Amino acid sequence: MRDDDRISNPSTQPPFHEVLAVNVARRRVLAGGLAVAVAAFLPAARAGADGPTPSGLLGFHPVRRADARGPMPAISPDYRYETLVSWGDRVRPGSSVRPYDGDPSRRPTAAEQEELVGIGHDGMTFFPKAGAAGREGTLCLNHEYGTNPHVLGKPWPQSLEDVRLSQHAHGVSVLGLREVNGRWQVVDVPHARRIHANTPVEFSGPAAGHALLRTPSGDAPRGTFNNCSNGATPWGTYLTCEENFDGYFGTESPWSPSVEQARYGLDSRGFGYGWHRYDPRFDLADPRYRNAENRYGWVVEIDPLDPARAPVKRTALGRFKHEGAAVTVGDGGRVVVYMGDDQANDYVYKFVSEGDWRAMRAAGRSPLDHGRLYVARFDADGTGAWLELTADDPRLKSRLGDQGAVVTYVRLAADLLGATPMDRPEWTTVAPDGRVYCSLTNNRRRAAPNAANPLAPNPHGHILRWRELDGHVGTRFAWEIFLMAKDSHDADHAFGSPDGLWADPDGRLFVETDGDQPDDINNQLLVADTRTGEVRRLFAGVSGDEVTGIAHTPDRRTLFVNVQHPGDGDPRLTNFPRAFDGTTVPRDSTVVIRRKDGGVVGS
Ligand code: FEO
Ligand code: CA
Ligand code: CA
Ligand code: CA
Repeated sequence: MRDDDRISNPSTQPPFHEVLAVNVARRRVLAGGLAVAVAAFLPAARAGADGPTPSGLLGFHPVRRADARGPMPAISPDYRYETLVSWGDRVRPGSSVRPYDGDPSRRPTAAEQEELVGIGHDGMTFFPKAGAAGREGTLCLNHEYGTNPHVLGKPWPQSLEDVRLSQHAHGVSVLGLREVNGRWQVVDVPHARRIHANTPVEFSGPAAGHALLRTPSGDAPRGTFNNCSNGATPWGTYLTCEENFDGYFGTESPWSPSVEQARYGLDSRGFGYGWHRYDPRFDLADPRYRNAENRYGWVVEIDPLDPARAPVKRTALGRFKHEGAAVTVGDGGRVVVYMGDDQANDYVYKFVSEGDWRAMRAAGRSPLDHGRLYVARFDADGTGAWLELTADDPRLKSRLGDQGAVVTYVRLAADLLGATPMDRPEWTTVAPDGRVYCSLTNNRRRAAPNAANPLAPNPHGHILRWRELDGHVGTRFAWEIFLMAKDSHDADHAFGSPDGLWADPDGRLFVETDGDQPDDINNQLLVADTRTGEVRRLFAGVSGDEVTGIAHTPDRRTLFVNVQHPGDGDPRLTNFPRAFDGTTVPRDSTVVIRRKDGGVVGS
């Protein structure tokens, strides 16, 4: 989301060796910038009416800057898009619930919204159905956020019914998909469902049952919201990541945050959702619900095919403003999860399971419950170290006590270890060559540069990449800056605020943006050639939106991408997915992107 660049890490004086490193970092910026500039120049020299000629890995004509504006999306002339599913569509197309079509005078009821696709489409994964040749499957789709003006049509909730409508518009949709006569559509499947802010959930791992996760009222844990990016496990489950949970809590009563609450950004106003006015669970001063906020900020595992199975919050992965969870399998069959904490000057994390994931599951142990959690330190010489977040460390033990507290307040633990403050770590993705990419979207608050975040302030963001030295499971890596977004600003592929990432098997890096773009163009999907640094614009969204979420069929000939918060909910800017009419409420939507010739998307 856009306004998550507030700062809640006061302890980020860069270590002295990082200050010394700025000269080294500047050299890296220059080297990276030169690579991009040269790559941008060569194709431009052969530009025709449709812009640069296809070459190498990027065999498509880009969307021109002049076309990347306005109320409807734009796509490469070699591609087409269609809308698949929008806020307010039925989760089960055969059900009788009244869908929501964007009529500003008739919002869904809270009960209807429980059976309708939510808002704030973000991270998602397509799970192909066995034996269906990739033409059928299940889409798990995150619903990150929707403002009160957008969802309710008013600035504040005026009843518990209003709060419930907002709560039910958040969470996750599990949808059946099938390609019928060349067109993807939502179909009825038995496991289709909505998970939202009131769905019963379970906890596992070191903080499960911990005093910090219990409330005096004894209420059972419920709900997930602000579901940002995502991941998928090798055993076929979905990971949904809770990001800006702090903004949903507030209070009208006298209250001041503890050190721990302040470190997670909790304050009396929140983001203006006002849930606390009618739902005491979200009132920070209500003594019955003390600790309620500690139940959010986790990575949540969902079994797409089993509606009887409650979502499980995997606490071993730590509590922070989770952007996403990029899963890979490292040496020894261990499952490895890379994660960003999206706040100015917060950190990059990694979890490594204690053993081979197949053996652990065969023994009835979740690989996501038992393992080591690390935070990253990026050193000025281009190497880095993973610092283990364990209560066995005397520094963490004396401050936090046990592992349950370490994971619940892992930001404080990471502060104590001297992790590197980053420029808002967003998505991570692991390329087939083993490199890990991480988008640092921007950091207008950065006062002092460090080697891996060399601009202060950094209004446009950058992308780092690193190579693990020990098969993803060790503590050493070698990093470099892949690109600085500002270096693109004079080029036709100008962009800023990189956010969503996906490294495909051929060496392409898909980059989605969320924030101010050069020349006021709309947010966009670009594709980079990781070998040359060349970048091209494949798709541009609509006014006021962000482009986020990326999923694909096994053959990579169909890509699913989200247009989130079109118009920021303002119907005077766009009425997407409808053509412009100036009044219909715009609705967050998943679009299907395909090459006109049926080729691999990105080629
Ligand atoms: Fe959900 Fe950091 O954007
Ligand atoms: Ca975002
Ligand atoms: Ca994001
Ligand atoms: Ca973002």
